[in-house]
Amino acid sequence: MKSVRLGNTNVQVSVLCLGAMYFGSSIDVSTSYQLLDQYLEAGGSFIDTANIYARWVPGYVGGESETLLGRWIQERKARSELFLASKVGFEMPGVERGLRAIQIEEECEKTLRRLKIDTIDLYYAHCDDRHTSMEKTMESFARLIKAGKVRYVGASNFLPWRLEEARWTSKTHRLPEYCCIQQRYSYVRPRIGTHSDPQVVANEELLDYCKNRELTLLAYSPLLRGAYTRPDRSFPEQYLGRDMEVRLAVLKAIAEEKNATANQVVLAWMVHSSPCIVPLVAASKPEQMRENLRALRVKLSIDDMARLNDACA
Ligand SMILES: NC(=O)c1ccc[n+]([C@@H]2O[C@H](COP(=O)([O-])OP(=O)(O)OC[C@H]3O[C@@H](n4cnc5c(N)ncnc54)[C@H](OP(=O)(O)O)[C@@H]3O)[C@@H](O)[C@H]2O)c1
Repeated sequence: MKSVRLGNTNVQVSVLCLGAMYFGSSIDVSTSYQLLDQYLEAGGSFIDTANIYARWVPGYVGGESETLLGRWIQERKARSELFLASKVGFEMPGVERGLRAIQIEEECEKTLRRLKIDTIDLYYAHCDDRHTSMEKTMESFARLIKAGKVRYVGASNFLPWRLEEARWTSKTHRLPEYCCIQQRYSYVRPRIGTHSDPQVVANEELLDYCKNRELTLLAYSPLLRGAYTRPDRSFPEQYLGRDMEVRLAVLKAIAEEKNATANQVVLAWMVHSSPCIVPLVAASKPEQMRENLRALRVKLSIDDMARLNDACA
């Protein structure tokens, strides 16, 4: 699998990051291992989790994804091959929402223990916290970096102006800067004025910001839970409308021409769009994983990209 530079760091990461959100909860241990092995065999090394995954699945409290990953990494002796990302900031049983120093530093310790590692390669602020000073938040990330517990920091679900505020705070106080932003992003777009709170959708403004500030956009929920191809899945209400219909028609035409699936074209479109966009792929079955990984074989020409980009109501 090819790699791209992560933000303005000197680190190269896989062009597809593997989302491990449901590993160890709704995806059982043996299937999770199979999916992880498939990704590793395809040459992938960038894995995404969070302390809260997946606290909303009935019977689970959060931490299950990290715990499963920790065991898998140890059994496969794969630590040195991987670039591991986790997150802090959302509430879970026993943990309040927020980015106060105590929350960040305590949760980091728990994540390290569950993952059975000494250093988290990329640690995200999972959501913004308007009640805690950014300077204090960045100072606690700085302490973790200094202690060797974290290598790089990223943000998720931040509005662009807050991201810029964070950058200025870091510059002014000589603190570490967020090197990437993880936001919801797919080929179809939500209608203007709609919200997916607490999730934040990447828009043109954010993309332009990322390109100009050398930040990577990690695109989560790129396949909208399979809605592009599955009759049992519908697109979220915010996406419905004429713009979506036009984009779906172009997507379908290109998928047919390439002998690919719509899911593959969505992922290929992101990878071809800019080296600053890295989709987070997730799957619950080996055949889904195979299909998604094969998106890297889909070649889109300049003309294909123009048709996909220009499709709008
Ligand atoms: N930062 C954040 O706030 C945030 C939020 C959400 C997610 N994330 C990250 O992003 C990752 C991906 O998010 P997501 O799970 O929402 O992504 P997604 O691409 O919207 O959905 C993945 C789901 O779509 C279905 N699917 C995947 N490939 C398919 C295929 N080829 N054919 C048919 N169906 C397919 C599967 O659903 P079934 O399992 O039902 O079959 C799979 O679990 C997560 O694992 C997590 O790491 C981050």
